[in-house]
Amino acid sequence: MKTMARRTTKKTALMREREYFRKIASALAEHEDMQKTKKLTQHGNVSVFAHSVAVAHYSIKLAKKLGIAFDRRSLIRGAMLHDFFLYDWHKTNNVGDGLHGFAHPATASKNALRDFCLNKRELDIIRKHMWPLTLTKLPLHRESWLVCIADKYCSLLETLGLNKYDDDTFLN
Ligand SMILES: [Fe+2]
Ligand SMILES: [Fe+2]
Repeated sequence: MKTMARRTTKKTALMREREYFRKIASALAEHEDMQKTKKLTQHGNVSVFAHSVAVAHYSIKLAKKLGIAFDRRSLIRGAMLHDFFLYDWHKTNNVGDGLHGFAHPATASKNALRDFCLNKRELDIIRKHMWPLTLTKLPLHRESWLVCIADKYCSLLETLGLNKYDDDTFLN
């Protein structure tokens, strides 16, 4: 009886977590600039939109696996916006600020600040997610480290064609 009650509680908690994820992520996803990222390719056949939602999803999964406390709202929002650079990096490698790999965190944070109100954790996530490529931009918060790692994991899955997600997978 106790085991069943525990299972139900766990299931309810998971449902609440999923609901919260959808609520926070969808609020950003509805923005017209975020909708544009559905038409931009990140890796393979994965859009920048799908990649960003997946990074948010896996960042939370990683935090739970590690059993660490984290700011869930900032983590979701920072991950959703970490690649908010809004151009096709396959066609436009040099965007004025430098090569895409090095410059896009700054571009993404400028765009994100234009469209949304961000806290310092969310900004740090966006600006530092390419570490160690951007060697001097060391992540300051644990949320930034989580996104930095989840981003590399998702990028690898996508490059190898092993991802099992698209634009809607984690938002439905
Ligand atoms: Fe990126
Ligand atoms: Fe990314």
